[in-house]
Amino acid sequence: MAISVLSVASEAYPLVKTGGLGDVVGALPAALAPHGVDVTTFLPGYPRVLAALEAASSQQEHGGSGEVSHALGAPLHRWPDLLGAPAQLLEGEIAGHRLLVLDAPGYFAREGGPYGDPAGRDWDDNWRRFAAFARAAADVAGGAVAGERYDVLHAHDWQSGLAPAYLRFAPPAPAVPRTVMTIHNIAFQGRYDAGIFASLALPALAFAVDGVEYYGGVGYLKAGLESADAITTVSPTYAREILSPDFGMGLEGLIRTRQRRVSGIVNGIDTAVWSPSADPSLPARYDAATLARRAVNKRAVEQAFALDPGEGAIFCVVSRLTWQKGMDVLADAIPALVERGGRLALLGSGDAWLEQAFRDAAERFPGQIGVRLGYDEALSHLLQAGSDAILIPSRFEPCGLTQLYGLAYGCVPVVARTGGLADTVIHANAAALAAGVATGIQFDTVTYESLVGAIALATDLYADAERWEQIQRAGMAADFSWATSGRRYASLYRELLAA
Ligand code: ADP
Ligand code: GLC
Repeated sequence: MAISVLSVASEAYPLVKTGGLGDVVGALPAALAPHGVDVTTFLPGYPRVLAALEAASSQQEHGGSGEVSHALGAPLHRWPDLLGAPAQLLEGEIAGHRLLVLDAPGYFAREGGPYGDPAGRDWDDNWRRFAAFARAAADVAGGAVAGERYDVLHAHDWQSGLAPAYLRFAPPAPAVPRTVMTIHNIAFQGRYDAGIFASLALPALAFAVDGVEYYGGVGYLKAGLESADAITTVSPTYAREILSPDFGMGLEGLIRTRQRRVSGIVNGIDTAVWSPSADPSLPARYDAATLARRAVNKRAVEQAFALDPGEGAIFCVVSRLTWQKGMDVLADAIPALVERGGRLALLGSGDAWLEQAFRDAAERFPGQIGVRLGYDEALSHLLQAGSDAILIPSRFEPCGLTQLYGLAYGCVPVVARTGGLADTVIHANAAALAAGVATGIQFDTVTYESLVGAIALATDLYADAERWEQIQRAGMAADFSWATSGRRYASLYRELLAA
């Protein structure tokens, strides 16, 4: 019999995505299906998620078929008072897989992003929004909703962290599913004052060191890590790194005590969305045998970013503009990149001071540095398909997906040697080049010197067209599909169910 999993997350591509979490949660159902795992995704009812359900259901009435479908009929369940607001459970479909949505207007019917207002400020009731979401997930997975039955609740990041804790401390029914907590980014922990505890509807004993208590307050990710049967993160190297204070961000002690339950499973990429030979957002599609066609995309990148046309290397960036991503160091390195004959096309959004730094750089080096501030899915595909290299100087990177997209698209990744970046890119040292296995460039510490050194190495390698193509082809031949990792999640679920 297939294993049934409720995958609980605040994002899932194509409905809602602010970063890699959305990509991964969106890809998991298809990744796990071949391994006998039935994934239902559970999402908050943000306006755009509900709108997609409605659009799909009206399309269905008119005989069409969309990515999401839902006969917007009776809700599957109603909570008259879910931690302070009414909510109901709706059903739909996402890319052919089952979707459940928590429709709770008091929590989710808001303008803005999933976590904050249009100006980017976090909502001050996020603690209640995601406690309610986790409580509902625990009810659905734990047998409180007629017709719903799950073997495993798989929680992703802090927004879902309370779900395993609710199942542990306040299960809705005697039989509880096994639980998995996946860390996509330990920097976001959902940490709140102790004062909120009384509103979480947890028994008093849950406010304990081995429960939801965290440095005197309440920690949502902490609660999940403490309560889940298994902990995973998104690369083997990051799974080791978070055992140390430098990367554990306060959770290293807890993770060390639960180390036997921790594993690192690297993310795959959704090849239905990310394949250069079938990508609808590209002016020219190509594969490893037709790399020359990338030139058309390169011209399109030059146009989109107002770069002077030329044959020199175009570096790109597709990133949140934050300290994690080393974007301050990159901003400093721009004059050196230009001096080396490189051009830069940057797509990103994030911290205001970094956005300003890149705006300034574009003004200082017109034709060499092109900047688009904002979020643009189609443009992110074009950059991978038309740029020569992608720069990823992250200070930490649990997995990273943009280097994987770069590999698949022949856009050579230049990355800091950390987390998933260390695990997925083979550095072009002399031996790897001679053996023809190099797929990118790694550098050790995120400093001005090492980043500039890596950029210099990239421009040198790029100058030798044959060698550069060899690196591109080696990356494109690597397997970053979900096949292996899908199997690993499936065996993890099986082990938990057998235990
Ligand atoms: P993180 O989740 O830490 O931001 P990842 O590399 O795992 O980093 O995933 C980032 C995802 O978000 C990728 O799919 C990337 O293409 C996308 N992305 C990041 N910034 C932008 C942007 N400004 N426009 C479009 N896509 C973006
Ligand atoms: C997080 C991490 C990123 C990872 C993504 C998906 O946002 O920062 O490294 O790829 O989650 O797991």
